[in-house]
Amino acid sequence: MSKLKRTHTCGQLRIKDVKSTVTLLGWVSSIRDHGGLIFIDLRDRYGITQVVFNPDKGNEFYTTAGQLRPEYVVAIQGAVSARPEGTLNPNLDTGEIEVYADTLEILNKSETPPFEIEDESKVSLELRLKHRYLDLRRPVMQRRLIFRHKVCQVIREYLDRLNFIDIETPVLTKSTPEGARDYLVPSRVNLGKFYALPQSPQLFKQILMVAGYDRYFQIVRCFRDEDLRAQRQPEFTQMDMEMSFVDENDIIQIIEGLVAAIFDKVIGKKVATPFPRLSYNEAMASYGCDAPDLRFGMKIKDISDIVQKSDFKVFLDTVKSGGQVRGVNANGCGNFSRKDIDDLTAFVGQFGAKGLAWFKVEEKGLSSSITKFFPEETREKIRQYMDAKKGDLLLFVADKPKVVSQSLAQLRLHLAQKNKLIDTNTFYFSWVVDFPLFDYNEDLQRYEALHHPFTSPHPDDLPILEEKPLEVKARAYDLVLNGVELGGGSIRIHAPEVQKRVFRLLGIEDESAYAKFGFLLDALKYGAPPHGGIALGVDRMVTLLLQLDDIREVIAFPKTQKATCLMTNAPSEVDLQQLKELGIRLL
Ligand code: AMO
Ligand code: AMP
Repeated sequence: MSKLKRTHTCGQLRIKDVKSTVTLLGWVSSIRDHGGLIFIDLRDRYGITQVVFNPDKGNEFYTTAGQLRPEYVVAIQGAVSARPEGTLNPNLDTGEIEVYADTLEILNKSETPPFEIEDESKVSLELRLKHRYLDLRRPVMQRRLIFRHKVCQVIREYLDRLNFIDIETPVLTKSTPEGARDYLVPSRVNLGKFYALPQSPQLFKQILMVAGYDRYFQIVRCFRDEDLRAQRQPEFTQMDMEMSFVDENDIIQIIEGLVAAIFDKVIGKKVATPFPRLSYNEAMASYGCDAPDLRFGMKIKDISDIVQKSDFKVFLDTVKSGGQVRGVNANGCGNFSRKDIDDLTAFVGQFGAKGLAWFKVEEKGLSSSITKFFPEETREKIRQYMDAKKGDLLLFVADKPKVVSQSLAQLRLHLAQKNKLIDTNTFYFSWVVDFPLFDYNEDLQRYEALHHPFTSPHPDDLPILEEKPLEVKARAYDLVLNGVELGGGSIRIHAPEVQKRVFRLLGIEDESAYAKFGFLLDALKYGAPPHGGIALGVDRMVTLLLQLDDIREVIAFPKTQKATCLMTNAPSEVDLQQLKELGIRLL
């Protein structure tokens, strides 16, 4: 161990410290040899301080200084000095001073790193993940992780103040259905049996309400074996909470207060509350998805009725067979070329759309290759209904509702990005409410919970639960920020009978419900209070706050799209002996 003990960090010294003797420890960030004097930037997580080595201090000392290379770990002692006029660095907090070293100790050498430790990254994500210790040493990454820590601190402070208690729930547990596959862990002492890693603490937090804890929270890791897309990781962090004796508005208010506190304390921005609410049906109708980006307009509109007065077979046939014709007004895009429109057609094709009908809005009205199928009166109706003016481009998809919604939702975002309609400095929050309780899975021919099976149906809809399941509304709410689902929650079922009815509709018959969730059904029998809660995605929230677009930028040790860790090489093969102990033979 060095005999030099750190007195200051590399971000600390100011003009008032001039003449004091200090000891700094850190990494060599850069080296400049200015004919005689050697300058280094010494870095730690607090900042950078310029250190000067003068040959006058002795030969051996100066020779050692000459051996310094980037990322060597050193201790230096010396006197703080004001920088000579003209050499001040306004970009550094310590830019008014430098330290003239008297003592230099190399604590550890470093091989030449595969990339430079600087904010701007010029290398692939793969290389960064493989050498994550170097990547995380970059000041920009350190700032991000410190930022994330601050967000979590505000969450803890806020919820603690409101009487929430942080309670840990198990990681080795049973499956909780959140819609993904489980990660399974074999049990050695119970051969042939498996734990599941929790997709969320959903059932445990409900059990805690039954146990009378009233207000629970946890910043907790969740595990989901799903196909990885942007904004998804196989393990991610939730701010999870649950409360007793509450309704939707109580939860919504507490979360709005929490979000406002985070924005205020971490980025000094005031957010206006309450956040606007829109129903699931409104969201699907106007934006084609349940997590709409409301930073721009371009609402989707339905012209299925209007086009009944036309001879365009595609539209007529689609509507006749239960489909719809909906579209958007791409304001000011009337100058798009045929190739531009072909590209848009190919774009919506990715989401199942079989075509993209278009009209350019000109002085004399709508014009298109399909104009002839639409009588003048119908064209004028379309123009008015779509709020179209000269220079606009109207785009329509005719298909089954799901395909129309999906392709138009994506087209809307695509056009907004292309035309730079999104003000990236705004944070637009909204709540999506009045979700249906169930969705129908055409492939599997069965009902599925839109959120999870513990979500309470709206009490008014209980009588039609079995009769018209798809019309039943859920007491669920999602928090959306800039088109990203930040969180989701609901008021839960607390009556065992209702829970069983929902299980039955989901095709989980009583016996298998008991095998899977018996402990919950049992708990509900012993005085379960009315309760509800929500979970926010912490990784997503921090990513959005920092205006980044990949959640891996705010997770210390994330996984790749193939769910691997490039640094540790997890997952990896295991010894045959280990498998044997677990009673497992690989196929
Ligand atoms: P839900 O499944 O909606 O709800 O998850 C809550 C929030 O967690 C985030 N999230 C993810 N973030 C990164 N990677 C993932 N793979 C991932 N999956 C989800 C999202 C999401 O909104 N138990 C319920 C909550 C409740 O009902 O109280 C739940 O887990 O931001
Ligand atoms: P077609 O009759 O196939 O030559 O198509 C004429 C126009 O209608 C083209 O611009 C197609 O992209 C468009 N079109 C075809 N099918 C659809 C559809 N399902 N929805 C919207 N537009 C369509």
